[in-house]
Amino acid sequence: MKPSIGLTTCLRPTEDVHHRVKQMLADETIHFVYVSRQKKSIEQLHQEMGLPILVVDKRRLDLYPIGQSTSFFFHPSSAVFRIKQIDAGGKDPLVAIGQLSEGMRVLDCTLGLGADAIVMSHAVGETGQVTGLESRTETAYVVKEGLQRWTESYAPITEAMRRIDVHMKHHLAFLKECPDDSFDVIYFDPMFEQTVTESTHLDPLRTLANYESLSNAAIEQARRVARTCIILKAHFESPLFEQYGFKRLRRKTSKLHYGVIEL
Ligand SMILES: C[S@@+](CC[C@H](N)C(=O)[O-])C[C@H]1O[C@@H](n2cnc3c(N)ncnc32)[C@H](O)[C@@H]1O
Repeated sequence: MKPSIGLTTCLRPTEDVHHRVKQMLADETIHFVYVSRQKKSIEQLHQEMGLPILVVDKRRLDLYPIGQSTSFFFHPSSAVFRIKQIDAGGKDPLVAIGQLSEGMRVLDCTLGLGADAIVMSHAVGETGQVTGLESRTETAYVVKEGLQRWTESYAPITEAMRRIDVHMKHHLAFLKECPDDSFDVIYFDPMFEQTVTESTHLDPLRTLANYESLSNAAIEQARRVARTCIILKAHFESPLFEQYGFKRLRRKTSKLHYGVIEL
Protein backbone atom coordinates (compact mmCIF):
# COMPACT_ATOMS: atom_id res chain seq x y z
CA MET A 1 0.00 0.00 0.00
CA LYS A 2 1.23 3.52 -0.81
CA PRO A 3 2.02 5.57 2.33
CA SER A 4 -0.15 8.66 2.87
CA ILE A 5 1.43 12.09 3.07
CA GLY A 6 -0.27 15.35 4.08
CA LEU A 7 0.11 17.95 1.32
CA THR A 8 -0.11 21.68 1.92
CA THR A 9 1.27 25.00 0.68
CA CYS A 10 3.75 27.51 2.08
CA LEU A 11 2.24 30.36 4.13
CA ARG A 12 1.96 32.74 1.15
CA PRO A 13 1.23 30.55 -1.85
CA THR A 14 1.31 32.00 -5.37
CA GLU A 15 -0.87 30.85 -8.29
CA ASP A 16 2.05 28.64 -9.38
CA VAL A 17 2.12 26.92 -5.99
CA HIS A 18 -1.65 26.19 -6.15
CA HIS A 19 -1.21 24.86 -9.68
CA ARG A 20 1.65 22.61 -8.57
CA VAL A 21 -0.47 21.23 -5.69
CA LYS A 22 -3.24 20.36 -8.17
CA GLN A 23 -0.75 18.54 -10.39
CA MET A 24 0.64 16.61 -7.41
CA LEU A 25 -2.83 15.55 -6.23
CA ALA A 26 -3.42 14.03 -9.68
CA ASP A 27 -0.22 11.93 -9.44
CA GLU A 28 -1.20 8.34 -8.79
CA THR A 29 2.28 7.14 -7.78
CA ILE A 30 1.79 8.58 -4.29
CA HIS A 31 -1.19 9.09 -1.97
CA PHE A 32 -1.45 12.74 -0.91
CA VAL A 33 -4.09 14.02 1.50
CA TYR A 34 -4.58 17.76 0.95
CA VAL A 35 -4.88 20.07 3.95
CA SER A 36 -5.48 23.81 3.68
CA ARG A 37 -2.60 25.69 5.34
CA GLN A 38 -4.60 28.54 6.95
CA LYS A 39 -1.53 29.88 8.77
CA LYS A 40 -1.16 26.64 10.74
CA SER A 41 2.26 25.59 12.03
CA ILE A 42 3.84 22.30 10.95
CA GLU A 43 3.34 21.01 14.50
CA GLN A 44 -0.40 21.76 14.33
CA LEU A 45 -0.65 20.03 10.95
CA HIS A 46 1.20 16.97 12.29
CA GLN A 47 -1.23 16.78 15.22
CA GLU A 48 -4.29 17.30 13.02
CA MET A 49 -3.32 14.84 10.28
CA GLY A 50 -1.10 12.31 12.06
CA LEU A 51 0.93 12.20 8.83
CA PRO A 52 4.26 13.48 7.51
CA ILE A 53 3.64 16.89 5.88
CA LEU A 54 4.92 17.94 2.46
CA VAL A 55 4.96 21.70 1.93
CA VAL A 56 4.92 23.07 -1.61
CA ASP A 57 6.93 26.26 -1.84
CA LYS A 58 7.72 28.50 -4.83
CA ARG A 59 11.16 26.96 -5.18
CA ARG A 60 11.07 23.50 -3.63
CA LEU A 61 9.30 20.78 -1.66
CA ASP A 62 9.90 20.51 2.10
CA LEU A 63 9.07 17.21 3.78
CA TYR A 64 8.49 17.24 7.56
CA PRO A 65 8.45 13.71 9.04
CA ILE A 66 6.09 13.35 12.04
CA GLY A 67 7.56 15.00 15.14
CA GLN A 68 10.25 16.89 13.18
CA SER A 69 10.30 20.64 12.74
CA THR A 70 13.21 20.68 10.29
CA SER A 71 12.54 19.62 6.75
CA PHE A 72 14.09 17.26 4.26
CA PHE A 73 14.50 18.92 0.86
CA PHE A 74 16.51 18.21 -2.25
CA HIS A 75 19.86 19.87 -2.96
CA PRO A 76 22.76 18.54 -5.03
CA SER A 77 25.16 18.78 -2.02
CA SER A 78 28.63 17.31 -2.66
CA ALA A 79 27.89 16.76 -6.37
CA VAL A 80 28.49 20.47 -6.95
CA PHE A 81 32.13 20.62 -5.88
CA ARG A 82 32.87 17.08 -7.16
CA ILE A 83 31.70 17.90 -10.70
CA LYS A 84 33.55 21.22 -10.71
CA GLN A 85 36.65 19.39 -9.54
CA ILE A 86 36.32 16.77 -12.33
CA ASP A 87 35.84 19.50 -14.94
CA ALA A 88 38.94 21.26 -13.65
CA GLY A 89 40.95 18.10 -14.38
CA GLY A 90 40.63 16.40 -10.97
CA LYS A 91 39.74 12.79 -10.21
CA ASP A 92 36.62 11.53 -8.46
CA PRO A 93 37.12 8.15 -6.75
CA LEU A 94 33.68 6.79 -7.71
CA VAL A 95 34.11 7.74 -11.37
CA ALA A 96 37.63 6.27 -11.35
CA ILE A 97 36.58 2.96 -9.73
CA GLY A 98 33.69 2.48 -12.15
CA GLN A 99 35.89 3.60 -15.06
CA LEU A 100 32.85 5.64 -16.01
CA SER A 101 32.91 7.25 -19.42
CA GLU A 102 30.57 8.74 -22.04
CA GLY A 103 27.74 6.43 -23.08
CA MET A 104 27.78 3.98 -20.14
CA ARG A 105 24.63 2.76 -18.38
CA VAL A 106 24.68 2.88 -14.58
CA LEU A 107 22.17 1.60 -12.01
CA ASP A 108 22.35 3.38 -8.63
CA CYS A 109 20.51 0.98 -6.29
CA THR A 110 20.50 3.36 -3.29
CA LEU A 111 19.70 6.83 -4.62
CA GLY A 112 19.29 8.74 -1.32
CA LEU A 113 19.84 12.45 -1.99
CA GLY A 114 21.23 11.61 -5.42
CA ALA A 115 24.66 13.23 -5.06
CA ASP A 116 26.57 10.15 -6.31
CA ALA A 117 24.02 9.64 -9.09
CA ILE A 118 24.50 13.25 -10.29
CA VAL A 119 28.29 12.80 -10.43
CA MET A 120 27.89 9.50 -12.32
CA SER A 121 25.34 11.08 -14.70
CA HIS A 122 27.85 13.83 -15.48
CA ALA A 123 30.54 11.20 -16.15
CA VAL A 124 28.43 9.12 -18.56
CA GLY A 125 27.16 12.23 -20.34
CA GLU A 126 24.26 12.76 -22.70
CA THR A 127 24.72 9.44 -24.46
CA GLY A 128 24.82 7.49 -21.21
CA GLN A 129 22.10 6.86 -18.65
CA VAL A 130 21.88 6.75 -14.86
CA THR A 131 18.86 5.05 -13.32
CA GLY A 132 18.34 5.69 -9.58
CA LEU A 133 16.33 3.48 -7.23
CA GLU A 134 14.95 4.60 -3.87
CA SER A 135 12.66 2.37 -1.82
CA ARG A 136 11.29 5.06 0.53
CA THR A 137 8.43 6.61 -1.44
CA GLU A 138 8.48 10.06 0.14
CA THR A 139 12.28 10.36 -0.20
CA ALA A 140 12.14 9.22 -3.82
CA TYR A 141 9.36 11.73 -4.55
CA VAL A 142 11.24 14.73 -3.12
CA VAL A 143 14.52 13.77 -4.80
CA LYS A 144 12.91 12.95 -8.16
CA GLU A 145 11.14 16.30 -8.22
CA GLY A 146 14.30 18.14 -7.06
CA LEU A 147 16.41 16.57 -9.80
CA GLN A 148 13.94 17.94 -12.36
CA ARG A 149 13.52 21.42 -10.82
CA TRP A 150 16.70 22.51 -9.02
CA THR A 151 18.84 24.77 -11.19
CA GLU A 152 22.55 25.16 -10.51
CA SER A 153 24.46 28.12 -11.89
CA TYR A 154 26.98 25.69 -13.45
CA ALA A 155 24.87 24.26 -16.32
CA PRO A 156 26.55 20.81 -16.63
CA ILE A 157 25.30 20.01 -13.08
CA THR A 158 21.72 20.94 -13.95
CA GLU A 159 21.95 18.90 -17.15
CA ALA A 160 23.31 15.86 -15.28
CA MET A 161 20.42 16.09 -12.77
CA ARG A 162 17.75 16.27 -15.49
CA ARG A 163 19.01 13.09 -17.17
CA ILE A 164 18.62 10.82 -14.10
CA ASP A 165 15.72 8.40 -14.31
CA VAL A 166 14.29 7.83 -10.80
CA HIS A 167 12.16 4.84 -9.77
CA MET A 168 10.44 4.50 -6.38
CA LYS A 169 11.32 0.88 -5.99
CA HIS A 170 13.19 -1.63 -3.85
CA HIS A 171 16.38 -2.55 -5.71
CA LEU A 172 15.81 -6.31 -5.43
CA ALA A 173 12.39 -6.07 -7.11
CA PHE A 174 13.87 -3.85 -9.86
CA LEU A 175 16.93 -6.05 -10.44
CA LYS A 176 14.77 -9.18 -10.78
CA GLU A 177 12.98 -7.55 -13.73
CA CYS A 178 16.20 -6.54 -15.55
CA PRO A 179 17.56 -8.59 -18.46
CA ASP A 180 21.12 -10.00 -18.14
CA ASP A 181 23.93 -7.46 -18.74
CA SER A 182 21.48 -4.56 -19.04
CA PHE A 183 23.69 -2.09 -17.11
CA ASP A 184 27.44 -1.56 -17.31
CA VAL A 185 27.89 -0.66 -13.64
CA ILE A 186 25.73 -1.28 -10.56
CA TYR A 187 26.30 0.83 -7.45
CA PHE A 188 25.28 0.22 -3.82
CA ASP A 189 25.66 2.75 -0.99
CA PRO A 190 23.52 1.33 1.84
CA MET A 191 22.82 3.23 5.07
CA PHE A 192 25.03 2.48 8.04
CA GLU A 193 24.37 3.03 11.71
CA GLN A 194 27.62 4.86 12.49
CA THR A 195 27.37 8.61 11.94
CA VAL A 196 30.31 9.64 9.83
CA THR A 197 31.21 13.32 10.08
CA GLU A 198 32.02 13.46 6.36
CA SER A 199 28.44 12.35 5.57
CA THR A 200 26.63 15.11 7.46
CA HIS A 201 24.88 16.02 4.19
CA LEU A 202 22.89 12.80 4.76
CA ASP A 203 21.62 13.89 8.21
CA PRO A 204 18.20 15.03 6.95
CA LEU A 205 17.81 11.59 5.34
CA ARG A 206 18.36 9.63 8.54
CA THR A 207 14.71 9.36 9.59
CA LEU A 208 13.60 8.88 5.99
CA ALA A 209 15.83 6.05 4.85
CA ASN A 210 15.59 2.32 4.46
CA TYR A 211 18.25 0.79 6.79
CA GLU A 212 18.12 -2.74 5.34
CA SER A 213 21.52 -4.24 4.76
CA LEU A 214 22.66 -5.53 1.40
CA SER A 215 21.20 -8.98 0.73
CA ASN A 216 22.66 -12.06 -0.87
CA ALA A 217 19.81 -12.06 -3.35
CA ALA A 218 20.54 -8.46 -4.44
CA ILE A 219 24.23 -9.22 -5.03
CA GLU A 220 23.33 -12.38 -6.96
CA GLN A 221 20.97 -10.39 -9.18
CA ALA A 222 23.51 -7.57 -9.60
CA ARG A 223 26.11 -10.11 -10.81
CA ARG A 224 23.65 -11.16 -13.52
CA VAL A 225 22.52 -7.64 -14.49
CA ALA A 226 25.88 -5.76 -14.46
CA ARG A 227 28.25 -6.08 -17.40
CA THR A 228 31.54 -4.68 -16.07
CA CYS A 229 31.43 -4.23 -12.28
CA ILE A 230 29.51 -3.83 -9.04
CA ILE A 231 30.63 -1.04 -6.68
CA LEU A 232 29.98 -0.77 -2.94
CA LYS A 233 30.54 2.28 -0.74
CA ALA A 234 30.52 1.53 2.97
CA HIS A 235 32.09 2.43 6.30
CA PHE A 236 35.65 1.06 6.54
CA GLU A 237 34.55 -1.28 9.35
CA SER A 238 31.62 -2.69 7.36
CA PRO A 239 31.58 -6.49 7.08
CA LEU A 240 29.92 -6.22 3.64
CA PHE A 241 33.25 -6.01 1.76
CA GLU A 242 34.41 -9.44 2.94
CA GLN A 243 30.91 -10.96 3.07
CA TYR A 244 30.31 -10.46 -0.67
CA GLY A 245 33.89 -10.56 -1.99
CA PHE A 246 34.34 -6.88 -2.87
CA LYS A 247 37.98 -5.95 -3.52
CA ARG A 248 38.44 -3.06 -1.12
CA LEU A 249 40.06 0.15 -2.33
CA ARG A 250 41.36 1.84 0.78
CA ARG A 251 41.18 5.63 1.13
CA LYS A 252 43.62 7.02 3.65
CA THR A 253 41.72 10.27 4.09
CA SER A 254 38.20 8.87 4.41
CA LYS A 255 36.22 6.55 6.68
CA LEU A 256 34.16 5.59 3.64
CA HIS A 257 35.76 2.98 1.44
CA TYR A 258 34.83 1.71 -1.99
CA GLY A 259 34.84 -1.94 -2.96
CA VAL A 260 34.53 -3.47 -6.38
CA ILE A 261 33.51 -6.82 -7.86
CA GLU A 262 34.86 -6.97 -11.39
CA LEU A 263 32.83 -9.14 -13.74
C1 LIG B 1 23.46 6.19 2.18
S1 LIG B 1 22.02 6.64 1.29
C2 LIG B 1 22.63 6.87 -0.33
C3 LIG B 1 23.27 8.21 -0.51
C4 LIG B 1 23.53 8.51 -1.97
N1 LIG B 1 24.57 7.67 -2.51
C5 LIG B 1 23.84 9.98 -2.18
O1 LIG B 1 24.85 10.30 -2.82
O2 LIG B 1 23.05 10.83 -1.71
C6 LIG B 1 21.14 5.14 1.07
C7 LIG B 1 19.76 5.32 0.44
O3 LIG B 1 19.35 4.07 -0.14
C8 LIG B 1 18.01 3.81 0.18
N2 LIG B 1 17.83 2.33 0.17
C9 LIG B 1 18.23 1.45 1.13
N3 LIG B 1 17.89 0.19 0.78
C10 LIG B 1 17.29 0.28 -0.45
C11 LIG B 1 16.72 -0.69 -1.34
N4 LIG B 1 16.70 -1.98 -1.02
N5 LIG B 1 16.21 -0.26 -2.51
C12 LIG B 1 16.23 1.08 -2.83
N6 LIG B 1 16.73 2.04 -2.01
C13 LIG B 1 17.26 1.65 -0.84
C14 LIG B 1 17.83 4.43 1.57
O4 LIG B 1 16.46 4.69 1.84
C15 LIG B 1 18.68 5.69 1.45
O5 LIG B 1 17.92 6.77 0.96
